Amino acid sequence: NEWVYTEKLKEHFMNPKNILQGEDTDAFDGVGMEGNLSCGDQMMVVIKVDPAKEVITDCQWKTYGCASAIASTSVLSEMVKGMTLDQAFDVSPKDVTKELGGLPDNKIHCSVLGDKALRAAINDYFERNGMQDRIRKEQARIVCQCMNVTDAEIEDAVLEGARTF
Ligand code: FES
Repeated sequence: NEWVYTEKLKEHFMNPKNILQGEDTDAFDGVGMEGNLSCGDQMMVVIKVDPAKEVITDCQWKTYGCASAIASTSVLSEMVKGMTLDQAFDVSPKDVTKELGGLPDNKIHCSVLGDKALRAAINDYFERNGMQDRIRKEQARIVCQCMNVTDAEIEDAVLEGARTF
């Protein structure tokens, strides 16, 4: 495993986009929190939604995560603005990694953090608006092509204390 970061990753790490200022999330329509079991880092993603079109008009975030988590979520927050809630829900860590021009293998799990928090924020929006039937469950996703592991497997492995990567 090499620790090679792309220029785009470095740029988003140095100048992250859409960072949530302060603690107040009242102005937002959906809030999602997610913890990364493999490293203990945390992420909050908040969204504003145009209710008529179900389009994300703003996406902000903050994290205690690492450089890869910061860059991934910065890119993600740019990508999902203008998407419908369903389109944004389907954005995968792989899409984000691709947008970054790649991530070191042992950092793939970091890109899952923002993506999960975003889906939690979308579900929070549905919940707040009495749209329980629209709430979508997390599905196990393949987050690492080379090792063919899903995010669920990573979490299981960490919970069992068996670090396999
Ligand atoms: Fe925790 Fe990357 S090591 S988010």
